[in-house]
Amino acid sequence: MMSKAVTTMAAQRIDYAETAKIIAALTEGETDPVALMATVACELHHADARFDWTGFYRVTEPGILKIGPYQGGHGCLVIPFDRGVCGAAARTGEVQLVPDVEAFPGHIACSSSTRSEIVLPVRDAGGAIIGVLDIDSDRPDAFDQADATALAAILATTFGG
Ligand code: SME
Repeated sequence: MMSKAVTTMAAQRIDYAETAKIIAALTEGETDPVALMATVACELHHADARFDWTGFYRVTEPGILKIGPYQGGHGCLVIPFDRGVCGAAARTGEVQLVPDVEAFPGHIACSSSTRSEIVLPVRDAGGAIIGVLDIDSDRPDAFDQADATALAAILATTFGG
């Protein structure tokens, strides 16, 4: 029998509308991308028990992503656009909804516990891709289109894209 605390933690599910309001309040008037990324990663990560690793990779030069603010275990530092789920999101500009990371060609496993993943491109006000938001879960098929839509809206509001 799980304790109420453990049950609650296991069941904790993000309220995207509430989290979006919190992020908007915390970042009001802020334009520094790293400060914005740090705040978004923190608020998302602690809002949902599915989110094992929550963080950003930044476009630091053409074709290269480098790790940015994140929550969770260590992540790899550099991802070229032609590798991994993050590289696919940066290369295509499309959300990557991965129900089974083992089935994704070239998936980069920063943790052996990752089973599913969602990665979204991050765009600035001019529409340029400045990075990606990567969320990993130790649960298979943890993410759906509702997550993708809500996360994309938070990113657009926060980063202007
Ligand atoms: N899984 C990602 C790499 C980042 S670590 O998961 C934090 C990928 O395949 O691009």
